[in-house]
Amino acid sequence: MLACVLIALAFISCDCGKNPAIQVILTNKGLQSGRHVAAGWIQEKLDHVTLPDISGEIRVGFLLHIGYKLTGITIIKSDFPEPSVEFYQGFSGLKTSIEGLNVALTGSWEAHCGFVHGGGSFDMALFGVDVVSIVQLGRDAGGRLSLTSVNCNAQLGDLNTHFYVNFQVNQDLTLDLPLIGPPVVSASSLQLGLKGQFYSVKCPKEPPFVAMPFATPEQPAYMLSVGLSDFTVNSASFSYFSADLLQAFINDSMIPPSSPVRLNTTSLGPFIPQLPKMFPDLLMTLQIYATNFPVFSFRSGAVVLSSSGAVKAFAIQRNATLTPLFKLHVVSARFFVAFTGIKVLLLKLATGFALPHTKHAQLVNPVLTVEEGFVAFNSDAMLLEDTIFN
Ligand SMILES: *[C@@H]1O[C@H](CO)[C@@H](O)[C@H](O)[C@H]1NC(C)=O
Ligand SMILES: *[C@@H]1O[C@H](CO)[C@@H](O)[C@H](O)[C@H]1NC(C)=O
Ligand SMILES: *[C@@H]1O[C@H](CO)[C@@H](O)[C@H](O)[C@H]1NC(C)=O
Repeated sequence: MLACVLIALAFISCDCGKNPAIQVILTNKGLQSGRHVAAGWIQEKLDHVTLPDISGEIRVGFLLHIGYKLTGITIIKSDFPEPSVEFYQGFSGLKTSIEGLNVALTGSWEAHCGFVHGGGSFDMALFGVDVVSIVQLGRDAGGRLSLTSVNCNAQLGDLNTHFYVNFQVNQDLTLDLPLIGPPVVSASSLQLGLKGQFYSVKCPKEPPFVAMPFATPEQPAYMLSVGLSDFTVNSASFSYFSADLLQAFINDSMIPPSSPVRLNTTSLGPFIPQLPKMFPDLLMTLQIYATNFPVFSFRSGAVVLSSSGAVKAFAIQRNATLTPLFKLHVVSARFFVAFTGIKVLLLKLATGFALPHTKHAQLVNPVLTVEEGFVAFNSDAMLLEDTIFN
């Protein structure tokens, strides 16, 4: 869980001095679950690792210097005990301790002392090694999560990992997720505040509203909590509207065959007598579009949607040219959104960035509640070990 969240959130671009629209809280329960998965993964990887070469010099008395080099060091067997991990408030980070690590190594050695050279292979066994590592979490100038090793007596080589900049949600939208402030580490959780703003791919621009402050309650019984402000949903709505995507055409082919009224100028003649006179027996199409972006507001236990729209009618000429006929003016409405549908949508949205690799993780018992100005999403997760780190 931890690695999944950190990897997903690391290396994403910057935006500062604003309220986060998305808050992510990793609880101690989530951290402990990540520890278990990470231990299994490290154990498996250690068996295929070649360690970096080691070289140095030993001084014997004043005159004698023995230089040495160890190369091709390979782990042939390791016994990696499950580490303990805790939130480390003092350093705003994480403290990992491993006790009793046993490793068997093999490799080649060379040594030289003056003109004398020697070399060969070696086998080495290390028993009962204790490792303590403290990693400090921060936010770099680019709004990305940074990890700094404060104290570690073991070094890790390269980790081949994909870092996501922002998420291309679909062909029309991207979701921008830089950290708004540094990560906050308490004794019981890690909290991240993210920008959480959708942009249109075609015409990205800033909406005429800003994210309001809110506080996602910490729920220690769950591994992960995500708070999603209505700002995030409205930025999606604004982006769709700006890109002219909140519109639809209704054609005669979409009207049920059983309907006595057809979408053509003949059939609508009894209602609008001029139609068949000016445009005899032509098919028609209706364009329904938003005249402003729909605004969602989250209220305790409900979602209110305000929207306004219009309808334009066209005659379809025989050469397929559309001739405007009339326009039905603004339909303005406020809805209390029926809950199941929007709940499914919000759950999808929340899981989309909480666990960007949904194929690597499975949510267990997700719960969503609508609060004043935000939705709170709490869940446990089951990670699928093989795929997370690859
Ligand atoms: C309906 O007609 C319009 C105008 O001809 C066209 O652009 C649109 O693709 C049609 N939609 C469907 C679903 O057939
Ligand atoms: C228009 O609808 C009428 C039925 O109301 C139908 O008889 C006629 O063939 C339709 N015209 C076109 C162009 O589809
Ligand atoms: C299509 O037909 C209409 C009506 O007959 C005509 O006014 C228009 O110029 C035509 N357009 C094209 C591109 O041929």
